[in-house]
Amino acid sequence: MSTTTTGRLAGKRTVITGVTGGMGRVACRMFCEAGARVIGSDLDEAVGRGLEEELGAAGHDFTFKAADVTSEAEVEALAGFVRQRWDGLDVLYNNAGIILGKPLLGTTVEEWDRLHAVNTRSVFLAIRAFAPLMGAGGSIVNISSGGGARAMRNMSAYGSSKAGVILLTKVAALELAPDIRVNAILPGTIDTPMPRNFISRVPAGGEREAAWQALGDGRPLKRVGLPEEVVPLAIFLASDEASFITGVDYFVDGGRAAA
Ligand SMILES: NC(=O)c1ccc[n+]([C@@H]2O[C@H](COP(=O)([O-])OP(=O)(O)OC[C@H]3O[C@@H](n4cnc5c(N)ncnc54)[C@H](O)[C@@H]3O)[C@@H](O)[C@H]2O)c1
Repeated sequence: MSTTTTGRLAGKRTVITGVTGGMGRVACRMFCEAGARVIGSDLDEAVGRGLEEELGAAGHDFTFKAADVTSEAEVEALAGFVRQRWDGLDVLYNNAGIILGKPLLGTTVEEWDRLHAVNTRSVFLAIRAFAPLMGAGGSIVNISSGGGARAMRNMSAYGSSKAGVILLTKVAALELAPDIRVNAILPGTIDTPMPRNFISRVPAGGEREAAWQALGDGRPLKRVGLPEEVVPLAIFLASDEASFITGVDYFVDGGRAAA
């Protein structure tokens, strides 16, 4: 799939979280291809260094810095690293996240808290740490989920944590205006390790294939999406082309929200 984004983020100093996962990896590559300078963060130092080498070899301006997005101290330290490196920031892309599929009555308090820490508190911590580095024209893009806008069985912790991201986005858009725009993306099922691992509990073979197919069939476009079909919207929202757009949540879900 080819999407022309060359130069649309020329020189934009960008922080992306969750960069070693399925969508984060693609986001780093596509943001760099669009001309952004990127500091990417995730948990695993070795994997992150590998990504840094890969993108560096392709001529991109990408630096990896490990941080746990649930930790106030580590997010603040990441902001300190960014301040030292660039003395400012143009784009924050909150992408890190985890999923849990469990009935509400079987969900433990630890699981509930973990989901909300990684998916929601992280966005609060990052906005609080990075917004002060962003001047006029700044843009924050938060990854929520279609599951944050639609009730699904076994998704109480995940859905509520992602619903929190949608409202947090809107409040931040009000409070950070007029300098910084804040928008959210709500992907449907996208082919990354997250849904692949999630579905790995279905017995291997035809049954698992059928379950995967069913995820796609539930939406008008009859398939799951690709990271390359989500990231271009993030690039648009991060760019100056979206200069009059803030406080909005966008579905990228093959039509699921309309069905
Ligand atoms: N793939 C989908 O179907 C789908 C659908 C809707 C929303 N999303 C959201 O998109 C985002 C990216 O998901 P993905 O599909 O690429 O999943 P993924 O599991 O491939 O990637 C998630 C990344 O977040 C990182 N992460 C987890 N906990 C962290 C922590 N405490 N600190 C720092 N990093 C941490 C992981 O290490 C991983 O690299 C997530 O927020 C997810 O909820 C995904």
